[in-house]
Amino acid sequence: MTNALTLTDVNVTIKGSHILQGVNFEIEAGVVTGLLGRNGVGKSTTLRSIVGLVPRVGSINLFGEEISGLRTHEVIRAGVAFVPEDREIFASLTVAENLKLAERDKNPDYDTVHQLFPELLQRKNQRAGTLSGGQQQMVAVARALLNKTRLLLVDEPTKGLAPKLVTEVAAALEIAAQATTILLVEQNLPLVKRVAKNIIVMDQGVVVHNGTPAELADADFAKRMLGVSGGSH
Ligand SMILES: Nc1ncnc2c1ncn2[C@@H]1O[C@H](COP(=O)(O)OP(=O)(O)OP(=O)(O)O)[C@@H](O)[C@H]1O
Ligand SMILES: [Mg+2]
Repeated sequence: MTNALTLTDVNVTIKGSHILQGVNFEIEAGVVTGLLGRNGVGKSTTLRSIVGLVPRVGSINLFGEEISGLRTHEVIRAGVAFVPEDREIFASLTVAENLKLAERDKNPDYDTVHQLFPELLQRKNQRAGTLSGGQQQMVAVARALLNKTRLLLVDEPTKGLAPKLVTEVAAALEIAAQATTILLVEQNLPLVKRVAKNIIVMDQGVVVHNGTPAELADADFAKRMLGVSGGSH
């Protein structure tokens, strides 16, 4: 098994509050890993620490390369893409324009994007603001995949979406997983169980579980750590 990403004893302190208190985990290459936990436990901060948006201490290793000392633009250039919680789609621009603005590499990979998301090609002249929430999430992920991406970080892509659209997002992530390694922060446990091969659970600034979805079947544990029922499947 190749590791795409290894965090060793990562600490983040912001304005005197010790938010990440020694985070340790490994992420398998080529699959989706889910990162779960209750509100405020440090999931988004973990993603922000990987891309250097917050000051961090500890080791962050990307495919064998130490990136904890890199600045954000260098981490991005090393192949890490970040889709933040609010997606930051330009509503008044078309799908094609949204993608064009995300071009970074000399040869943006439209072939992969159109192969993975043919719907975006069909809708290239549609204003992004008129897309469904699920389709907007597709645009956000497609923007990341346009450039060489070795690791895609996605923060709560289904937040605020109707249940029907959650299915759409799950499908988009499964498709994106064919092209890259994904670390997915998500509160929706059924969705994570559907798309993720491995699941990491955080609580109060540390990792409390790292294993397969099946290992999360312990309903008591799931309820305590996620505030939801783990279910038996
Ligand atoms: N810039 C900041 N300044 C001060 N405190 C912060 C900052 N960013 C995050 N925090 C605090 O750090 C803790 C972890 O926040 P974080 O956003 O990482 O949690 P989360 O697990 O993503 O939560 P949620 O599920 O609500 O998105 C919270 O208590 C939050 O209030
Ligand atoms: Mg968050």
